[in-house]
Amino acid sequence: MTQVKVRLDRAMETSLLTLYGKALDAAMTPSILHDRLAAEIVAKIDYDFAGIKGMNERVAPNAAARSKHFDDWTREFLAAQPAATVVQLGCGLDTRAWRVDPGPAVGWHDVDFPDVIAVRRKLFPTRPGYQMIESSVTSPSWLAAIPTDRPVFVLAEGLTMYLSPTEGHELFRRVIDHFGHGTIAFDTHSRLGVRLVNIALKRAFGRALLHWGVNRAAEVDAIDPRLHRVDALSALLAPSALSLPTSSKLLIPVVRHFPPLRDLGQYFRYTF
Ligand SMILES: C[S@@+](CC[C@H](N)C(=O)[O-])C[C@H]1O[C@@H](n2cnc3c(N)ncnc32)[C@H](O)[C@@H]1O
Repeated sequence: MTQVKVRLDRAMETSLLTLYGKALDAAMTPSILHDRLAAEIVAKIDYDFAGIKGMNERVAPNAAARSKHFDDWTREFLAAQPAATVVQLGCGLDTRAWRVDPGPAVGWHDVDFPDVIAVRRKLFPTRPGYQMIESSVTSPSWLAAIPTDRPVFVLAEGLTMYLSPTEGHELFRRVIDHFGHGTIAFDTHSRLGVRLVNIALKRAFGRALLHWGVNRAAEVDAIDPRLHRVDALSALLAPSALSLPTSSKLLIPVVRHFPPLRDLGQYFRYTF
């Protein structure tokens, strides 16, 4: 098979890291996410995946568990609203639309930088109701491509921390202004988490890439009075963490009593 050479810069390169994590998980027994399409796409890419510092079989289940969490929230939304719009911001090379496999009444929109979408266009299959939008999420223009006639589920997995706080706040307000009503689900790193992950990113990709850290849910609540918090969960205490291997769960009973460690990563769901 001729492989496609993929070279992505800055934050975009991290989409290869999470893709590889899901491909590694797919080859593990048990697998958390069973993302065979991720494994197929990795096999088509000419890139030194094995050379990525910070992604290996020990870490891969964490990437898979986070994605499982957002898959489950997406499925839950679509079970209640089978005719809906799904918008995935910072989609990277994630295959969620194929994992969740929504029904024909769902319009699904994946948004990322043009270089990432160009890789998706070369390597991903197409599917009915599925659209890709090449844009920075910080630009107001991408919203114009998305209709507002159906209930909307906006997803941002592994994105907020790459934005500055001001960019993040503006993004939330723009989403609310455009759709009027909907649900938004996303994860955050705490400020300590941002510092720790930046150290790891410097090792893996030669530069720190993260900016926006969130320590408490109240910081998100304060972004806009139209946001109503439904869930705020430590990534370690979320139901999806139960699927992690025992070795990754050993410290959870200890860590749950120390908010700075417990809340290094959090999952949020808001309605607006
Ligand atoms: C860690 S990856 C996560 C990808 C995917 N959501 C996943 O979970 O596998 C971060 C992604 O955010 C994207 N990203 C970061 N800043 C962005 C921006 N301003 N606009 C669009 N995408 C952005 C990057 O290009 C990259 O694909």
